[in-house]
Parts: sequence; structure tokens; C-alpha cells
Amino acid sequence: MALRDKWVPRYLELTPKSEALYKRARQSIPGGVNYPLRYLSPHPLYASRAEGCYIWDVDGNRYVDYWMGHFALIMGHSYRKVIEAAKEQLEAGAHLGLEHEWEVMLAEQIKKMVRSVEQVRFANSGTEANMYAVRAVRTFTGRKEVGKLEGCWHGGYDGLHKAVSYPFDAPSSAGLPEEVTGLTVTLPFNDIDGAVKIIRNRRLAAVFVELVPSQGAFNPADREFVRALRDACDETGTLLVFDEVITGFRLSPGGAQEVYRIYPDLTIFGKILGGGFMPMGAFGGRIEIMERLDQTKYVKPSERSFHGGTYAGNPLAARCGYVLMRELESGEVQERLNRLGEYAKRRLSEALERSGLEAYVTGMGSLIGLQFTPRPPRSPRDTLSMMDRELAEALYYYMLVNGVYYVSQHVPHFGLSASHAEEHIDRLAALLEDFGREVAKEKRRA
Ligand SMILES: Cc1ncc(COP(=O)(O)O)c(C=O)c1O
Repeated sequence: MALRDKWVPRYLELTPKSEALYKRARQSIPGGVNYPLRYLSPHPLYASRAEGCYIWDVDGNRYVDYWMGHFALIMGHSYRKVIEAAKEQLEAGAHLGLEHEWEVMLAEQIKKMVRSVEQVRFANSGTEANMYAVRAVRTFTGRKEVGKLEGCWHGGYDGLHKAVSYPFDAPSSAGLPEEVTGLTVTLPFNDIDGAVKIIRNRRLAAVFVELVPSQGAFNPADREFVRALRDACDETGTLLVFDEVITGFRLSPGGAQEVYRIYPDLTIFGKILGGGFMPMGAFGGRIEIMERLDQTKYVKPSERSFHGGTYAGNPLAARCGYVLMRELESGEVQERLNRLGEYAKRRLSEALERSGLEAYVTGMGSLIGLQFTPRPPRSPRDTLSMMDRELAEALYYYMLVNGVYYVSQHVPHFGLSASHAEEHIDRLAALLEDFGREVAKEKRRA
């Protein structure tokens, strides 16, 4: 019997309505979900409503949510100021199909907060922003190949959907022809010699990197590694792109780059950018690169890097984003969250020590990970190859039946919001400790 089976029956008992919805969903939605990440065996949870740091499922069970809408909801669920702004904009016109002031205000606000951004364009998701950024870096450099770091996730765009699932040498999806993925070169994470050698030996248009990769349970890149990437890129005329879809505006008003004090040529934004609940992405950075999108300077389509879309920069998302950015501008929210993150790391580490579980707490700021690995992991490769999946899965169901929601079943990682408090962390730590005792009991019994 797998360890998780100790808690799965209780999960089934608690969630009959989710089970019924899943059966229905399977008839009209492949696999019953719109993102496999949200799938859970034997059936995923179907949510009904959310408030602050809590989310309720259709059976009425309440969970403390550490997933927070894919880490987009930095203020917590149903944040009133953004909801009020959205309501007003719905009345004024959510989809005008023309340019408007909110997108200008949001662009100016991003420039104010993120030092490396001189110009920015809006898209509808992180995936889309990455896709257009790949095109922009190719346009600017005239080079074809693009580098990305092993285990980093930039969304499902063909050109970056490589070395995501472990093992990294197998395709991360079907339907990706080698002619396409062959133009994407993967670099080892946190390995200076390995990564720099590849940058020097290839003519890459850019290197895309997630500084605090979710697949590595938020174990951040070393500063020296990021410095080495920056230097090698400068040396070879390669652009450096930080994917700050999760970290942007969260780790500081200026994102992770401000924490590292190392700056990219382009940055990718998403999630928090749209106010937390409106789909939005953006890419921005140095003016020489961004102006390759300027239709007044590059009149011929063949010379311009195309970007656009029906909902690109729409006023509803732009206004929600702007209102939230103004809340995040001073950095007070992030400072409190970072302190809570430190508290969480300490409390979880103490719980692990007391519980006898072999695991490491990783993370940066309000992004926390838990790694059931025999030694401290240094990269998503370490995390994905060494993680004790049985233990991670068992913890997942244990937390669920005790009213805690997070992702994922195989790589536990947690995002804090302004609605979380020390009491929530204390409970999380207490549950982790109890889980350790349960595991020890099971081991003695076996
Ligand atoms: C770092 C990072 N980049 C890009 C994406 C893709 O963003 P989206 O899901 O909005 O397309 C994600 C989504 O999880 C992400 O975490």
C-alpha cells in the first residue's frame, strides 16, 4: 500500500461533489481539467468560492490556500480594491478595442517600479509574453537559437517548452517537432562552467531564466551564477531575459532582479500584473530591443517584430493591474511578506527537525518549498530527480484532509499572500510535524 492511501479514503469521504463534477467534466473536457497541474487522483477539487487566504470546495470544505491562484493573488482572494476597480471598468467598458489611458498608466507604473524596463508591451498570459519576447530577441540579434535553463517553466509555447518535465532529454510534450525545439538550447541550472561554456560556444539570441524556479521548489539561482550568465551574455552579444512571471512585483516592487541587483535586457511579467485575477502578461526592457516592435519606425512587416492581439492591453486587466501596482509600489506589502516567509522557513525547519523527516526547506521571500531529498538540492534537476515522491504525495493528501491546499503533489511549494498570518504558518508547521510522526508510525509498522 502506498503511504498516501492512508489518507485518500478520507479525501474521498470529504469530496463527493467534486467527484461527481469530475465525472461530468470528463465527458466534455479532456481529462476533466483545463490544466493537468490542477489534476489530482482520483479526482481533483472543484472550488466554489474564496476569500482572503481561504478557498472553499463545492462540498463546503475550507482550505488555507497556499497556491493562491497560481501565485497570482499576492493580496489574497477577493481583494476589495481591485474588485471595485474591475466593477467600475466593467461599467465603463471592459473591452474597448481602442487604446486607452489605463494601459499607458500601467506601462508608466511598471517603468517606475522595475529599473530595467524602458518600454513594455502587454499580452494576455505569461506564455504569450514569453512567445513574443522570443520573437523580439531573434529580431534584435538576428540569431535563431534561444537558450533556456533546465527545469525552468515559461509556459507552453513551442520554443520554450523544452527540458521542463524530468528527464529533461525527453520531449516535454507531444506535438513538438525537432525542427522547432532544435532551435532551443538547454543550459544547466546553477552550474556556472556548464552554462557559460554553452553561451560561449553557440550564437544564442538570448538566455531565458527563471531566477526562483517553481519546479525547483523555489530554490533560487545563486547570485554568482546569475552574475556569470550576465557576464557571458555581455561577452557574446547574447540577451539575458528574466522570466519574472512569479517573482515580479512579489519579491520586491522591482522583482527578483532588484533583490539580486543584476539586471536583464528583457523581463517577462504575468500573474500579479493583471491585478491577480485578470489574465495578463507583459514583456519589457531596453528601448533598443523594444523599439523593434514600433510600427512607426519599422514600417515594413518583414523588419518589425510583430506583437498584438484582441485583448492585448485591454482596459479591464490594465486597470486592475494598475490599482494593484499602486498598492505594491512602496514595498511595504513585500517586506511584510518576506518577513512572514522567513518565519515560515524557520517554523517548517523546526517542525522537520522535531518530526525526524529528512527534508529541506528552500525558497526566497514569500515563496517557500519543501524538498524530500537526501541532500540539499541545487537545481530543478536535483529536486525532480531526488525527490521522494511517495513522501511528497502522502504529505499532499495529509494536508488536503486537514484543510490545507497547495501545489504540487510531487514538488511541495507554497506562496504566501498578504492575507496569511503567523497563525496559518504555525498550523502548517504543526501539521508537518504530525505528518512526520504518522510516517514514523507507518515505518515501524511495516
Ligand atoms: C515563471 C513562469 N513563466 C511563465 C508562465 C506561464 O504563464 P501563463 O500560465 O500565464 O501562461 C508561468 C506560469 O505558471 C510561470 O510560472
